[in-house]
Amino acid sequence: MSPPIDWEPLVEAALAAQQRAYAPYSRFPVGAALLMEDGSVVAGCNVENRSFGLTVCAERNAVTTAVALGRTLPQAAVVVTGTSPPSPPCGMCLESLAEFAREMPILLVNPAGERVESRLEELLPCRFEWSGPHGD
Ligand code: THU
Repeated sequence: MSPPIDWEPLVEAALAAQQRAYAPYSRFPVGAALLMEDGSVVAGCNVENRSFGLTVCAERNAVTTAVALGRTLPQAAVVVTGTSPPSPPCGMCLESLAEFAREMPILLVNPAGERVESRLEELLPCRFEWSGPHGD
């Protein structure tokens, strides 16, 4: 059994990241925070672009930041959106998280204080798999 997650530092980091979101086109700011294997917290926000397809989601920005810091084993994630109920990550972000964690708790939060606890393997029951020299 893994120890219970202390969600509060993660929620705080994700709420702060949501404040820093660059989302002038959608006006849909998102914040994400990952609890890493060493206990550190890595956050990300969505960053949009006038060429809309260049937009990068909050969760993927958190994942790439964590990897760049040399931390590749997320233990838990918090995602903050402004919706009620709080929204789950998109499919692309779930795949991105699933690259580095087979399963983990994900807490969906909004600034009004609603919280929905889910799990990566529940939101993405069938992650992309392939066999081959680099596919394990
Ligand atoms: N967005 C995220 O940051 N994460 C998701 O999982 C889905 C959507 C962002 C992308 C875009 O900036 C805005 O939310 C509206 O789609």
